[in-house]
Amino acid sequence: MLEMLKKIQKDNVTLEVLEYLISTNKYDNEILSFADEIRKKYVGDEIHIRAIIEFSNYCKMDCLYCGLRAPNNKIKRYRMSPDEIFRRAKLISEKNIKTIVLQSGEDPYYTTEIIEKLIKRIKSLNVAITLSIGERDFKEYKIWKDAGADRYLMRHETADEELYNNLHPHDTFENRKKHLFKLKELGYEVGAGCMVGLPGQGARELAKDLLFLKELDSDMIGIGPFIPNPNTPLKNAKGGDLKLTLKIIALARILIPTANIPATTAMGSLHPFGRQMALKSGANVIMPNLTPNPYRPHYTLYPNKICLFEVDTSCIECVKGMIKDLKRKVGQTYGFRVKVS
Ligand code: 5AD
Ligand code: FES
Repeated sequence: MLEMLKKIQKDNVTLEVLEYLISTNKYDNEILSFADEIRKKYVGDEIHIRAIIEFSNYCKMDCLYCGLRAPNNKIKRYRMSPDEIFRRAKLISEKNIKTIVLQSGEDPYYTTEIIEKLIKRIKSLNVAITLSIGERDFKEYKIWKDAGADRYLMRHETADEELYNNLHPHDTFENRKKHLFKLKELGYEVGAGCMVGLPGQGARELAKDLLFLKELDSDMIGIGPFIPNPNTPLKNAKGGDLKLTLKIIALARILIPTANIPATTAMGSLHPFGRQMALKSGANVIMPNLTPNPYRPHYTLYPNKICLFEVDTSCIECVKGMIKDLKRKVGQTYGFRVKVS
């Protein structure tokens, strides 16, 4: 089995082989521990901390799975002002965290210029900036890159075209792909990724996700379980499984050994030690929530999201404690993707 895993790491892997590994649980332990070895070999023991500011929960889209979807009138909407966002970024940088992730729903209220100015201001704090604000015009991606943005997170959600198109009434997989490749071309570090356990998604569809991540050569890979949200059309769906999600994270590490892979909040929301398990199965990044109160509880992508009622900076100490308990090291650099020749 180890030989087979070594082979899929080195050579071109086929859809069939991945589908097989995903569909049987016979080799699960070997897959997770091989991913941990590959993680150590390629990206080491440092865990990079990326602080997230969820600055607006307005969204013009209507993704079937997501609690921020425009038709959901059960949530209280908020927007942080650029000054509020900047103040938060400053506080984060003073705590010596080197990456700030600016995340929101797809909210056109924040114009090209507002985001551009914000990037320039935050860059003066000597941090790396990751944008996670959905699909925008290609021209805007360029302006923001020139303003100093370093990375862009935009999950591909599912690489099964039919499933993608069903889940996104106003988008297509074809279009999402174009955006991701454009961001790469502009020089961003790009983060794609998917949910695990979407309705209609089986081993074959998940195998397509892994092949897509490899084709894109995704610099960052966000993978988490789908957690049904009662305020969405998918409220009665089953939702993702911890073990299967861990295996997909592990396979992503094996296939794209130098990628930065977070132990996602959804993993922690599904199981109290979900993120720790991910960090032992290939993940090397953690993204504490730094959204200030009173906004934080309103960024409800899915129910039971962790860290909602904490003192609003306590996640930093919490994740540092987690890193220590795992006998790993807190990353001291910006944590860009490592290059191997
Ligand atoms: N369960 C799990 N993850 C979700 N996301 C959105 N809704 C859900 C849900 N119900 C994920 C999507 C999105 C990211 C910000 O959150 O993958 O890209
Ligand atoms: Fe938020 Fe632990 S990371 S409380």
